[in-house]
Formats: sequence, structure tokens, C-alpha cells
Amino acid sequence: MTISGKTRVYGVIGDPIDHTLSPVMQNAAFEALKLDCTFLAFKVKPVEVSNAVSGMRALGIQGLNVTMPHKNAIIQFLDEVDPTARFLNAVNTIQNKNGKLLGFNTDGVGALRALRANAVEPKGKKVLLLGAGGAARAIAYSLASEAGELVILNRSAKPAEELANLLKQASNKKITSGTLSPETIETNLADAHILINATSIGMKPNVDETPIKPEWLKRNLAVMDIVYNPVETKLAKAAKSTKAKVISGVEMLIYQGASSFEIWTSSKAPVEVMRKAALNHLQKV
Ligand SMILES: NC(=O)c1ccc[n+]([C@@H]2O[C@H](COP(=O)([O-])OP(=O)(O)OC[C@H]3O[C@@H](n4cnc5c(N)ncnc54)[C@H](OP(=O)(O)O)[C@@H]3O)[C@@H](O)[C@H]2O)c1
Repeated sequence: MTISGKTRVYGVIGDPIDHTLSPVMQNAAFEALKLDCTFLAFKVKPVEVSNAVSGMRALGIQGLNVTMPHKNAIIQFLDEVDPTARFLNAVNTIQNKNGKLLGFNTDGVGALRALRANAVEPKGKKVLLLGAGGAARAIAYSLASEAGELVILNRSAKPAEELANLLKQASNKKITSGTLSPETIETNLADAHILINATSIGMKPNVDETPIKPEWLKRNLAVMDIVYNPVETKLAKAAKSTKAKVISGVEMLIYQGASSFEIWTSSKAPVEVMRKAALNHLQKV
């Protein structure tokens, strides 16, 4: 692709940022659709967030992804924030619409799209969600109106309880919470249709960790592990060997990126191209 004076610039900000997959996915998508756009990664320290947003305005950067640790701090510098990002208190996508900076959060919708793209429909189903951190909150928010029942288990009970209480105010679904323990997991898994690990358990370097004992898994369960580093976690391997349906964290990553792409370009994201680019890159690193 040739960069010219007309090329529109997009990017991702975070700290650290070296590991980000967004440039490979988004540049592959721009190229596939022959859009005159480019996507860069910017390491932005927490004290520079306000300056980064001013820079976005001044330089006419058309869109940004926002990753840790800026998802919350950036909100105060934006012109508008959509209801989902407002509820989550976290923005992962900024659109520069004719000089107005609009904030969105595509993590939850990305998880939902990842499930559906893999033929897992949460409507009316019991979902067991492990974790109550940033990613789990986004997933819980998008599932609260879709799933039949949602159980949120977290190592520290309080964030799970607070999240469940908040969600219950906006949904008429059965939403409960508890402490993450072998007993609570086993009990809730017995009649669950979908299990989502949204904790960091199993993430590099702790690849030998898993929140689930293999004997609790069953064939008719769909298992999504949002950890994408490694691509196949210990949990995913165990689920695969019980013939459960497995959705990797890369899928959520791709679909949250695809949703950002669609906000920025109003074009349907070339998901297959983005998946190939992300997996190629992950195999290399
Ligand atoms: N696939 C994707 O698109 C995607 C997107 C975002 C994040 N992720 C991945 O999802 C994971 C969580 O990310 P996050 O942004 O939600 O992080 P976070 O906000 O820091 O939350 C971490 C969560 O993991 C739990 N946890 C951490 N270590 C634990 C342990 N040893 N035992 C039990 N629970 C533990 C925490 O419980 P406490 O509250 O008790 O500390 C909390 O619920 C990371 O691996 C991240 O890379 C994937």
C-alpha cells in the first residue's frame, strides 16, 4: 500500500503496546477492502492520555483503539460516549466524526459475535461466566439481555456481586453471582450450556493453569476461553478432548476488532482476512 497525503490514519494506544494484534488485523482489513487507510500502534503513558487525545484531534487521526490502562481514563476527554461504554466505564474504540470524538466499547459485542459466528446461540441458555474484570464486565453486559440465565463467579466475590446487581437493574433475566471455587464451578456447570473463562487463568506464562477440572466438562457444553495467548489454552485443550465446542479467545479479539473497523469505515469487516492475519502473527511470536 502506498501512503500518500490522503491516507487516513488509525491506531491503537496503550502501555505496554508491543504485543498488540490490532495493527496486523486492521491493516490486513484495510488492504483487503482497498481502503486508503493505515493503522499504527502508539505507546502512550498514563500521564499523556489527555495529550494523546489532543493529538488525535490536531492530527485528524480518524479512529483509535484504546487498550490497558487507558480504557477508563480516556472517557473524560471525549465528546460523547455510547451507553454501553458508559455502563462499562470503559472505551476501547474512538471514532473521529468530523472532529467530534465518540467513544464505544466493542469487547462485549465482539464476544457475542464470536459465539454466534461459531454457531453458539446464547438466547435462552444458561451461561457460566468466570471473572468480573474489564473483559468479563463487557461480556456480561452483552449477555445480560440475551442469555436465559447468567451466573458470574469471581475470585473476589464483591466485583461479581456488584456487576450482577447492576445488570439485574436493567434486565429481567436470572443473574446471580458467587465466589470462584471448585464447588461453585462444578455445581453451576452441571446444567450450564455455555462456559466462558474471562479470567486471566491459563494466560502466558501460566499456561499450565486452568479454572476447570477436565471431568467437569461435557460434550454438549460450549466453551469460550477469552485468553488468546496461548491460542489454545489448557482449558480449551481439555474441552476439545471431551468433544465440547471450543471457541478461542482469538475469535473474540477478531470480532471486537471487526466491530471497531465497522464503526470507523461503515463497511463490513473482512473477518476471514483479519483472522488469518491475527493467527499468522500469533504463530510467529
Ligand atoms: N480475547 C479477547 O478479545 C480479550 C479481550 C480482553 C481481555 N482478554 C483476556 O482476558 C483476560 C482478562 O482480561 P481483563 O482485561 O478482564 O483483566 P482484568 O480486568 O485484570 O481482570 C482479571 C480477571 O481475572 C481474575 N483472575 C486473575 N488471576 C486469577 C487467578 N489466579 N485466579 C482466579 N481469578 C483470577 C480476576 O479476579 P479478581 O477480581 O479476583 O482479581 C479478574 O476477574 C486476560 O487474559 C486478557 O488477555 C481477551
